[in-house]
Amino acid sequence: MKFSLKNKVAVVTGGGSGIGKAISLTFAKQGAEVHILDFNLEGAEETVKEIEALGEKAKAHKCDVSNQVNVESIIHSITENGKIDILINNAGIAHVGNIEAVEEDDLDRLYNVNVKGVYNSIKACIPSMKKNGSGVILNLASIASSVGINNRFAYSMSKGAVLTMTYSIAKDYVADGIRCNCISPGRVHTPFVDGFINKNYPGKEAEMFEKLSKTQPIGRMGQPQEMADLALYLCSDEAGFITGSNYAIDGGFITLNGN
Ligand SMILES: NC(=O)c1ccc[n+]([C@@H]2O[C@H](COP(=O)([O-])OP(=O)(O)OC[C@H]3O[C@@H](n4cnc5c(N)ncnc54)[C@H](O)[C@@H]3O)[C@@H](O)[C@H]2O)c1
Repeated sequence: MKFSLKNKVAVVTGGGSGIGKAISLTFAKQGAEVHILDFNLEGAEETVKEIEALGEKAKAHKCDVSNQVNVESIIHSITENGKIDILINNAGIAHVGNIEAVEEDDLDRLYNVNVKGVYNSIKACIPSMKKNGSGVILNLASIASSVGINNRFAYSMSKGAVLTMTYSIAKDYVADGIRCNCISPGRVHTPFVDGFINKNYPGKEAEMFEKLSKTQPIGRMGQPQEMADLALYLCSDEAGFITGSNYAIDGGFITLNGN
């Protein structure tokens, strides 16, 4: 079978919802044992239940990725009697606003989860991957990593760092057999998008949903499963020649807008 993840162990941060949930389910279906690290334990346990109903293996861990001690102790509990083949850095939070609307607390929160969370998870997994001489890391960047999006100052700052951390890790660990890539989705219809529409545009939800859908030249938002299928390819052995790459999956947002 192509794209098999049989006998692989995958860690997915934020696997209790949206894109992370779709990745967790897809990887489990391909045979991976999936560990979900999520702040929201209930969401993570729900994903585990769905995976177990398919006859596959998964475990939920309550984890705040911004807390280094918390991340390290969970990763250690997985690697002390086993290994980690794949790390998906997916946990992330949103913020809407230009620099005037970003308070210091907002900036720190976005940094702590979206940047430090990725640093914490990679740092915790690298020793085991180095020991095994192999590993794949996939980070959830964004179109906001590469182009300006209105009113996303703090979010763009954090996702720019995800892109450059990807390049840095790919270069530093290529000789250890570790590949590191990122994907840059356009808008994907998940609770993340519904949440920020509800919070920031009360009373205008349907209008904003339509507006955000149309910012993709393809005319709609992406689906979590479409992100999971690209993630599956990039984390499979079939993608063994790919490292240090950023894949746009954005309905044409980056290259077609403005033409
Ligand atoms: N949905 C989009 O349009 C879109 C576009 C581009 C990039 N992304 C990125 O994809 C990733 C997933 O987005 P989504 O839309 O599926 O989001 P989501 O809100 O549906 O899910 C995010 C998950 O991360 C978890 N989480 C949040 N903070 C955490 C923390 N500190 N520690 C552990 N877990 C935490 C949440 O509990 C949740 O289960 C994010 O990094 C986001 O920035 C999303």
